[in-house]
Amino acid sequence: MKITAYSCRPDELAMFEKFGKECGVQLVLVPEGPSMENAHMAEGSQGVSIITTPVDEQLLGRWKRCGVQIVSSRTVGYEHVDKDAADRLGIAVANVSYTPNTVAEYTVMAMLMAVRRMKTIMTRFLGQDYSLLDIRGRELGRMTVGVVGTGRIGETVIRLLRGFGCRILAYDLKPKTELKEFAEYVDLDTIWRECDLITFHTPATKKSYHMVNRDTLEKMRDGVVLINMARGTVMDTAALIQALEGGKVGAAALDVVENEGKIYYKDFKYQPLGHHDMAILSAMPNVLMTPHTAFFTDEAVSDMIEYSIRSCIAHVNGEENPWRVW
Ligand code: COI
Repeated sequence: MKITAYSCRPDELAMFEKFGKECGVQLVLVPEGPSMENAHMAEGSQGVSIITTPVDEQLLGRWKRCGVQIVSSRTVGYEHVDKDAADRLGIAVANVSYTPNTVAEYTVMAMLMAVRRMKTIMTRFLGQDYSLLDIRGRELGRMTVGVVGTGRIGETVIRLLRGFGCRILAYDLKPKTELKEFAEYVDLDTIWRECDLITFHTPATKKSYHMVNRDTLEKMRDGVVLINMARGTVMDTAALIQALEGGKVGAAALDVVENEGKIYYKDFKYQPLGHHDMAILSAMPNVLMTPHTAFFTDEAVSDMIEYSIRSCIAHVNGEENPWRVW
C-alpha cells in the first residue's frame, strides 16, 4: 500500500520512516502543502496524509482520479477539508487523536504566564530592567477558572488544574459524569459572569464561531483573563482588541488567531506581515501570542504520524477506523 504525505517537515522524517517500516507501507513524502500543482504526487496512492492546508473539491477530484480512497489529516481539527465534497466523491476523511496532555500542559503554562505577567517580566529582563513596576501577578489557585469544551483536551486541563486548588466551572454540550467531582458544569452565562479566567477548548464549528464577542465580553468580569489554544474563530478579534484596550480583558494568551493560516509555520522575518490585528495584539504587554505550537511535542508528532498511517491502512483494508470522521 502507498501513502502520499504532504507538508512533511524535517522534524517528521525519522518518524515517517519508523512507522512506514513498522506498518509496511510505501511512503511518498512531499515537503510542500498539497495543491493542484503537486496533486500528481498522489498517483497510485490509496491514502493521503495532510496537515492544515485547505483541501477543496477540485483537489479531491484530482486525487480521486489518482486512486486515493482516504484523506487523513494529521491534526485533530479537520475544518480545512471540504468534507461534503469528499462525501460526494466517495473519499473518506479522517483526523487523528494525539495525546491531549500536549495541548493541556501548554494551556496550563499559558494560564500561569498570563496571570504572572510573564511576557513583561521576560521582555524587561532582556533589557536589564529588574524593577517590580506593573508585574505583580495573582495566584491561579485563588481564581475561578472556566473551561469551555470538555473533550479530551478540556478534560485533561481540568485534571491538571486539580493540583492548584482553583474553583473550576465547566461548559460542554455533553457534560462528562466523571468530571463532576472536579468541576461544576454550568451554562455559558454563568461562566461569563463568575470566572476570573476562561480557557477555550472547542472545535471550529458554527456554534463556537465568535463565542467571545462584544455581548459576551460585556457579561464577563472586569479584568478577566482569556486563554485560546483552540481555534482563532472562537473569538471576534476586533471585539477582543477593544476589550483589551478598554481593560475589560486583563490579559490573554492566544496560540491561535483568526486568519492565521497564511502566516503560521512560515518565517516572515524582515517582511510585512499584512495581519493588522496580529500586529496590534502582539504589541500588547498583556497578550502572549504563540504561533499555534501548543500541539508541538515529540509525543504528539509521533502520534500524528503513526495514527495517520494506521488510519489509511485500516480504511483501505476495510477494517474499523477509529479516526474516520462521519
Ligand atoms: C490540531 O491538531 O487540530 C491542531 O490544532 C494542530 C495542528 C494545526 C498542527
